[in-house]
Amino acid sequence: MTESTPSDRSEAEQYWEARYQNTPKPWTGRPNALMARWSETLPTSTALDLGCSEGNSSVWLAQQGWQVTGVDISTTALTRAAQHVADAGVAERIDFQQHDMEYTFPEGQFSFVYALYLQSPVAFPRDTVLRKAARAVQPGGVLLIIEHASSPSWAPQMKQFPTPQQALATLDLNLDQWDTLFLGAPEREVTEMKGPNGETGVVTDNIIALRRKSGY
Ligand SMILES: C[S@@+](CC[C@H](N)C(=O)[O-])C[C@H]1O[C@@H](n2cnc3c(N)ncnc32)[C@H](O)[C@@H]1O
Repeated sequence: MTESTPSDRSEAEQYWEARYQNTPKPWTGRPNALMARWSETLPTSTALDLGCSEGNSSVWLAQQGWQVTGVDISTTALTRAAQHVADAGVAERIDFQQHDMEYTFPEGQFSFVYALYLQSPVAFPRDTVLRKAARAVQPGGVLLIIEHASSPSWAPQMKQFPTPQQALATLDLNLDQWDTLFLGAPEREVTEMKGPNGETGVVTDNIIALRRKSGY
């Protein structure tokens, strides 16, 4: 992990670093459930986890035998991820890399590339980064993007989120070269937080799952 002083850091790095330092989350070791389900449909191979955070999904995937590259901007998140992977005894199957993906991106191609809620309240060229993610999928491989597509049902819907079709369009892909495995916006129960009066609720996620056709 690179050492940087606060003044060297981009706004994105300062924001995410402060967020992880100020809000240590208990380690669950639980992967994102949808990512886990998709991975089980694929032959065990290489994966790229974009915005891997503290490594819950990466570590789980490595425990299933995958060779995983996990990328994040936050030193604190990656330091915790490295500790978790060592505790889990699968360090040889994970390469955690620190990138500000606005500027740098991991080398190579992977059979499963996923971005789970890779969304940021500070400036982040997300469309450009997700186009790089698509290019990192090897022929025959799968790209999975899961993103917030609504506020929780208890909150005012202040923000306009893209539809799954709009989100797909921003990837700017030649869709002759990809099979769409899933494109939709299912609801899920919010488990990570409650409303101001202790309400439970639902939220919508856009899900895009694409397979790059062999030969492209
Ligand atoms: C909303 S969190 C999602 C984390 C995780 N994928 C999950 O599903 O829980 C977004 C993650 O992307 C990382 N991130 C934000 N901007 C980034 C950037 N420019 N380059 C690399 N990682 C970034 C953050 O540090 C954070 O861990």
